[in-house]
Amino acid sequence: MKENLITIKTGQKGSPIGDLFGIFLEDLNHAADGGLYAEMVQNRSFEFSGTDHPSYHSLTAWERIGQEQEVTLDVREGEAVSEKNPHYLRVEISGRSREAGVRNTGFEGGMHFQKGKKYLFSCYVRCPETVGHTLCVSLRNAADLEIAHKEFTVKAASWDKIECEFMAGETAAGGSLALVITKGNSMEFDFVSLFPQETFRGRRNGLRLDLAEALEELKPRFVRFPGGCLVHDGSLDENARDSLYRWKNTVGPLEERPARRNNWRYNQTLGLGYYEYFLFCEDISAKPVPILPAAYDPHHKRAVPLDELEPWIQETLDLIEFANGDETTKWGSVRAGLGHREPFGLEYLGIGNEEVGEGFRERFPYFVKAVRRKYPEIKIVGISGPFCGGGEYEMGWECARQSGADIVDEHYYMAPEWFISNVHRYDSFGGESPYVFVGEYAAGSNSGKSALAEAAYMTALQNDCHAVKMACYAPLLCHREYENWKPDMVWFDNDKVCRSVNYEVQKLFMNHQGDELVSCELQTDMENEELITLEARKQGDIYFWGDEARVLFTEIELYDEDTGESIFLPDTEVMADKIPVLLKENAPQNIRLKFHALEIEGFKGFRVYFAWKNEKNRMYWVFGGWENQDAALVEEIDGKGCFLSQNQFHVEKEREYALELHMSGSRLEGWIDGELFQSVTLMPMEMEPIYLTASRDRAASDLILKVVNLKNEPFETGIKLQDVEGTEYQCDVYLLLEENCAEHSDFPGVETAEVNQETKTVELNGSDKKFMWRFPERSVTILRLKNNMI
Ligand code: AHR
Repeated sequence: MKENLITIKTGQKGSPIGDLFGIFLEDLNHAADGGLYAEMVQNRSFEFSGTDHPSYHSLTAWERIGQEQEVTLDVREGEAVSEKNPHYLRVEISGRSREAGVRNTGFEGGMHFQKGKKYLFSCYVRCPETVGHTLCVSLRNAADLEIAHKEFTVKAASWDKIECEFMAGETAAGGSLALVITKGNSMEFDFVSLFPQETFRGRRNGLRLDLAEALEELKPRFVRFPGGCLVHDGSLDENARDSLYRWKNTVGPLEERPARRNNWRYNQTLGLGYYEYFLFCEDISAKPVPILPAAYDPHHKRAVPLDELEPWIQETLDLIEFANGDETTKWGSVRAGLGHREPFGLEYLGIGNEEVGEGFRERFPYFVKAVRRKYPEIKIVGISGPFCGGGEYEMGWECARQSGADIVDEHYYMAPEWFISNVHRYDSFGGESPYVFVGEYAAGSNSGKSALAEAAYMTALQNDCHAVKMACYAPLLCHREYENWKPDMVWFDNDKVCRSVNYEVQKLFMNHQGDELVSCELQTDMENEELITLEARKQGDIYFWGDEARVLFTEIELYDEDTGESIFLPDTEVMADKIPVLLKENAPQNIRLKFHALEIEGFKGFRVYFAWKNEKNRMYWVFGGWENQDAALVEEIDGKGCFLSQNQFHVEKEREYALELHMSGSRLEGWIDGELFQSVTLMPMEMEPIYLTASRDRAASDLILKVVNLKNEPFETGIKLQDVEGTEYQCDVYLLLEENCAEHSDFPGVETAEVNQETKTVELNGSDKKFMWRFPERSVTILRLKNNMI
C-alpha cells in the first residue's frame, strides 16, 4: 500500500475566505431575555399576558409577601411610566402581616447571587395617597433571608426612579428580589430592574458576562440576528401585542420598548435591541448581519398588500441609515444620540428568514430594488426556505437570482450521516452571486458524533468558499430550564455556562479560519467507507398514518419495480389515524406504491412510511406536515428526520388524492394526481478517509491545516509543504478527540470535550519538504504552522 500523502501548495493563490464562519443569535430558549441580556427581573414592567404564553399573567414571576387577606397585589393599566408598557403594580396593605410587599423570583430557577459581587437595582415608585412611606429593597436567598438590603423613603406621588447598588453577602441560588413596604399602606411600582454590575464591557443595560465571553471566545466573523422565526412570525401591526419583530420598537429608552410576545412562547422586553446588538458586534469585532421581515408572515399567511409596502421598505432603509448614516441624517443622529457617533459599518442585510410561498417572493424584489437604489454597497441576503431541497428551495433561489440578491440563506437540520454524505453539496456551485450563506445548520445532537460530522462538513464549506460566503450553527444559546429547540451550541442556567462539544468545533474553525484558501490534496489508496448501504436504507415495511387526522386509504396497489409484478396485499383499503397501520412487511427495495387518500377528520394530514426498520430509522412521504403547509420526502436516521425535498402543499379535507410513490435505485419520486410532484436522489452515505482544508492567516503569517478523521482508526500520513523556504517550523496543535467527550453532569444530554493544545517543532525532511503526522481516530486536528509560512 502506498504511503498516504497530503500536499499543501503554499505557493498558489487561493480564494479569499472572507467572513465565512460566524454565529446566529436568536431569542429562543430564553437566549436573550433570561440569558444573554443580563436583566435578572422577569416581567419587570408587569406586561406579561396570556398572549405571550397561556400560563402567563401580569404577575408572572411575582409573589406576594404577606398574608393574602392583608396584602393586595393589583396590576393596573393607565398611568404607567410609559404608554408603551401600560401596566404597573399597586401594593395595598390592610392588615398586620409581619412583612408586606412583593418579590420577583427572576427567570427559571430563581436569581443567582455571588458573594461579594455587586448588583444594580432600579425601579419607578410612587405613593398614590400619602407620601413619605418607606420601602426596604433586599436580595434574598432561597430560604428568604436577606443577603443585602437598602431602605428608601418614597417621597413622591408621581413616578420617581430609585436606584442603588447592592453587594451580595453570600452566594445564593434560587434567590429573589424583595420589595417590602415598611411604613405606609400602599405603593406603586413599575420597571423594577436588577442587573449584575459586572456585564460584558461593563455596559449598563448590558450582557451577561460569562455568556458574552463564551461568544467572544469563538471569534466569529459575523453575527446574524435577531432571528429566525422570531423575525417573521406575528401581526403586521407594529403596535399589536403579537407583532412581528420591528427594529424601531427595540431602540431608545428601555421604558419605551414594548415588552411583547416572543413567538417562542415567552415574552421579550426588547432590552437587548438593535443598538445593543450592533454594539455587541462591534465589541467582539464581528460584522452585524441583521435580518428584517419582508412584510409577510408565512406562519399565518399574513401579507402587507403590495401597494402598502412603502413603510416597510422605508423601515429597512432607515435601519441602514441608523447603522451607517452620519449625524446629519435622521436615523444616524438617533444612533449618535444613543452614544455612538461613529457609524457601525453595516455591510450585510438579510430580508426574510425562511419564508415559503409566493407571499414572500412577490415582496422580496421590492426591498432589493429599494436598497440597491439607495445603498448599492449593501450586500443583500435572500432566502431559500427551511429545507435543503424541493420546490420552495428552488423557487427561493430563483427569486434571489431574479431580484439580484447577493447571497442566499439556506437552512437545514439533519442527521450526522446526511452531513457526512453531503460534503460535496457546494462543489458545483458557481463562483458568482448569489453566493451561499448556510444560515442555520446542526447535525442532530450535542454529541461528539454530531460535532465531528459538523467539523467534516465545515472543512468542505471552507474548501467551497468560492461559493459559500457565510455559515453559522443554530441555535446558539439555550437556558437549561426552557428549551424550545435542541441541540444548541451553548447551554446555561442562571449561574453556569456549558460549552458543548459542538461549540468547541465551531471555536476551532472560527479561531483558525484564516483569510485565504490554500490548495491541498490527499493521495491515498484508502477507499471511502459506506456508512449505510443504499439497500439497507431502502429495506423495510410500509405503513399508513393519519397525523392528528382520520384518513381513508383506498385502491392500494404495490408493485415490485424490478420485476413489474404486483405484490399481494391483505388489505387494499385502510383507515388510519394516530397509530400507524401496517400495509406490507419487508417490502422490496424498489417499489411502486399506488393509493388514494381521503382525509375524513382532522386538520393536519397523513404520511406513508416506507423502508421502515424501526421507529427511528425509516423513510416517509408526509402530506400536510407543519401547520398543514407542505409535503416532503424524508429519511429518518436514528430519530433525526432529514427533509430531502419539500414543497408547499395543503391537504384539503374530504378531497381524494391519487398518489404514487416510486423508489428505484437511488431515485425517489412522489406523484400526485398523475403528475410528478417531488423527487430526490438518495446520496450514497459514505465516509471519506479524512476531511481536510488548508488556509493562510496573512496577518499572523501562519499556515493552517484542519483535518477531521471520522474513522475508528488513526490516519497516518506524510504532509508535504510545497514552496516553503524553511526546514523547521513551530506548530500549534489543537486536538479534539471524540473519546474525551462526556455528558455534562449539570446539563443532561449535552456532551462537552476539552481541546488539547500543545506546541511542537516540525522538521521538514528531504527535498520534498515533508513531515509525518498521525491523526487519531474520531478526531478534529488543527495544525497551525507558524512564522513566515507565506
Ligand atoms: O434555529 C431555530 C429555528 O429554526 C429558527 O428560528 C428558524 O429559522 C428555523 O426554523
